[in-house]
Amino acid sequence: MSHEEFRRIFASKPVILAPMEDVSDAVFRQVCRSVGADLCVTEFVNVEGLLRGCRHARRKVSLTPDDRPTSIQIYGADPERLAEAARVAAEARPLYLDINCGCWVPKIAGRGAGAGWLRDPAAMVAMARMVVQSTDLPVTVKTRIGWGPESDMPIVDLARRLEDVGVAALTVHCRTAQMGHSGAADWVWAARAREVVQMPVIVNGDIKTARDAERALAETGCAGVMVGRAAIDHPWIFREATALLQTGVEIDPPTAEERLQFCRDHLRANVAARGEPFGVRVTRRHLSGYLRGLAGASALRRTLLFCDSLAGCLQILDEAEARLAA
Ligand SMILES: Cc1cc2nc3c(=O)[nH]c(=O)nc-3n(C[C@H](O)[C@H](O)[C@H](O)COP(=O)(O)O)c2cc1C
Repeated sequence: MSHEEFRRIFASKPVILAPMEDVSDAVFRQVCRSVGADLCVTEFVNVEGLLRGCRHARRKVSLTPDDRPTSIQIYGADPERLAEAARVAAEARPLYLDINCGCWVPKIAGRGAGAGWLRDPAAMVAMARMVVQSTDLPVTVKTRIGWGPESDMPIVDLARRLEDVGVAALTVHCRTAQMGHSGAADWVWAARAREVVQMPVIVNGDIKTARDAERALAETGCAGVMVGRAAIDHPWIFREATALLQTGVEIDPPTAEERLQFCRDHLRANVAARGEPFGVRVTRRHLSGYLRGLAGASALRRTLLFCDSLAGCLQILDEAEARLAA
């Protein structure tokens, strides 16, 4: 079933929520799904934490029945531990398991995990083979175009070799590891990787608007697009991109009322999941984006910034709505 559903989803050019640590949690996945995300990926999960039974890691791999289709992403530096952790994560029956080979953060890549695998493509391929063989679920890889400013990026050859060992799809974050999050993503590499394989290739990096999603798919011929940072401020990008891709129509941005309602819903969901004040605090990073374009948005943001209680935030938002209606 999983492989069949996997093929069905990738046949329909999904717009995917990227894995983002401390962002793509169960609540935010639900938020994005409510506005059209076709597929979500969990934030990355450390295999050592998972295998030790660490509560934090276990929570990240537990999926509720309505949290689907979702993929679980794992990271680590040891192939056997990755394979073992894949078996544990597979118990949650995600749509697929994704291996993080793209995290550039020194404390991760420096230890050989994440983008560290790009320093030894042969080892990455051997590791992927081991993970593929450890589970009946589709296994995918998310990586970058290369480690540094190579004249010939390894991603094209890697795509071929990963497919050969049974990897079911590849997400290409079109930057090198050394670029971190700076500089422009170069989608050409996703196109080049896509040309040499049959498996779905997903293009990622700098997709900030529905028009970008359309352009990324048109320029690369990829099977899907993955959106990261743009969704933090503007999750409506999912329905805007889907409308544009399916009907060619550019839909209106959310109304002021919808923006305010989104703030309330996200706050309530995070407080239900995490309690106060933490649930309020983790929602804050989204609120300034949600309120963008509203009359009096900066004053409203500042007021919300100092409020740690759900009731207080809801009152501030209700008052803002009353002012809008006046
Ligand atoms: C806050 C944050 C956390 C991230 N965490 C992860 C992660 O856990 N796993 C991963 O593969 N990539 C992670 N990324 C990278 C994104 O998935 C994505 O590849 C990158 O942001 C480029 O896409 P964008 O330009 O649409 O943001 C993270 C990015 C950000 C901004």
